[in-house]
Amino acid sequence: MEQKLKGKVAVITGGARGLGRGYALRLASLGADVAIIDRNLRSGDVYEFEAKLRTAESVAVECQQFNVRAIEIKADLTSRDSTFTAIEEVLAELGRIDIAVCNAGGGTAQFADEIEAGGADAVADLNTRGTPAACDEDVLQRVINTNLNSCMYTCMAVSSHMIKQSSGKIVTVSSTAGLEAGSGYHPYGVAKAAIIHYTRSLAQELGPHNINVNCIAPGIIRTGRLGDRQYLSKYIALRREGTIEDCARVVEFLVTDLSNYVTGKTITIDGGQCNQR
Ligand SMILES: NC(=O)c1ccc[n+]([C@@H]2O[C@H](COP(=O)([O-])OP(=O)(O)OC[C@H]3O[C@@H](n4cnc5c(N)ncnc54)[C@H](O)[C@@H]3O)[C@@H](O)[C@H]2O)c1
Repeated sequence: MEQKLKGKVAVITGGARGLGRGYALRLASLGADVAIIDRNLRSGDVYEFEAKLRTAESVAVECQQFNVRAIEIKADLTSRDSTFTAIEEVLAELGRIDIAVCNAGGGTAQFADEIEAGGADAVADLNTRGTPAACDEDVLQRVINTNLNSCMYTCMAVSSHMIKQSSGKIVTVSSTAGLEAGSGYHPYGVAKAAIIHYTRSLAQELGPHNINVNCIAPGIIRTGRLGDRQYLSKYIALRREGTIEDCARVVEFLVTDLSNYVTGKTITIDGGQCNQR
């Protein structure tokens, strides 16, 4: 793999499993030093799918196998203070930040590690069940904080540093749930739609500082938490669910020179599922 990110430092939030792990490995393979920030650095242990993929005891160690520096920081990014502290730690340890992939999120109402041991659901995270007309307050706050606020806090924390160095690439993570409105999976869709708007605004502010801000909106992508959704292939133009690699390739485009004149945009990665866009 060409070392086109050699000398760059990338922060990947929610990088301990799933798509975030895929982005971390991809950028490390391109030569970037990597900082993984996650509320649970062992979240990859929850699902057999993730546990089987791992080739070392942690994602940071997997990244180090590409001969780059890689660190992991435990932080809950729904806290503004914890987010800023974590970013300061990255700067102290790795010296700079060139790339931020704000991936932490998900329609998760409760994480497996928060569910009382031994409970019937303790083997997996619980997905959100809320509708626009009826959504419990704790779920509403949880999902908005986990998706929208964590993304904005991360962007705010890295922005001042990127402005000082007059360069940077930020990738935010939305979802096709933020593009298409259904009555289910609320308020996840609301948070992900807001991320698209935030991305456009931030791109306007940071553009004059040579900082690109773009967003990806994945569709049905196979990760441990969401399981095998191959049965939905008939609704997808390319007739298959997406892979972590499908998303990592687009992230590579957005954090390398290939996308230098692209900013404020959202790229849907859904195999043609959202056919109206
Ligand atoms: N998998 C898909 O099909 C899909 C589709 C569209 C969008 N997305 C988005 O992509 C991102 C990754 O999805 P995934 O399927 O890999 O999810 P995942 O649940 O497998 O991984 C998410 C990671 O983020 C971490 N995290 C969650 N909340 C956090 C917080 N407050 N602070 C720090 N870390 C936190 C978790 O511990 C976990 O390691 C999410 O933002 C999700 O909404 C995924």
